Amino acid sequence: MTLLSPARPGRRAGDASIPPIGLRPALPDLSAVNAPADTYPVTLDPQQWTFAAGKEESLFQAARRAGIRLPTICRNGTCRTCFSRMESGSVRYLVEWPGLSAQEKQEGFILPCVAVATAPIVMVNPHAEKTADAAG
Ligand code: FES
Repeated sequence: MTLLSPARPGRRAGDASIPPIGLRPALPDLSAVNAPADTYPVTLDPQQWTFAAGKEESLFQAARRAGIRLPTICRNGTCRTCFSRMESGSVRYLVEWPGLSAQEKQEGFILPCVAVATAPIVMVNPHAEKTADAAG
């Protein structure tokens, strides 16, 4: 006599392709799915706007994604139009020689078009504007 499993029509009880409950593989760990994104918070002064900056994008790109326009021209670290002061935090650069002197770097000046956050950041750029499609 052949028994059919009521929960899985078409499968036979004792089917070798269905491992016993104790031997089934563990369910995948879904905790990473709900983990916070790989970002650092950025606060823009004096506007007090905040946005999240990914660890692989420039501060300019992160701001733009958040509906904030920083003044830029070259976007490759040479023209200094985006020149901003970082009050706290740290950055790394996407280019080997961003257009800043060693003294400017020491004093906390950054070029957001080529700077990537490596910590939470507070930066000053009074010329930043919200774009028309920005929320809030
Ligand atoms: S836009 Fe030119 S250095 Fe940033």
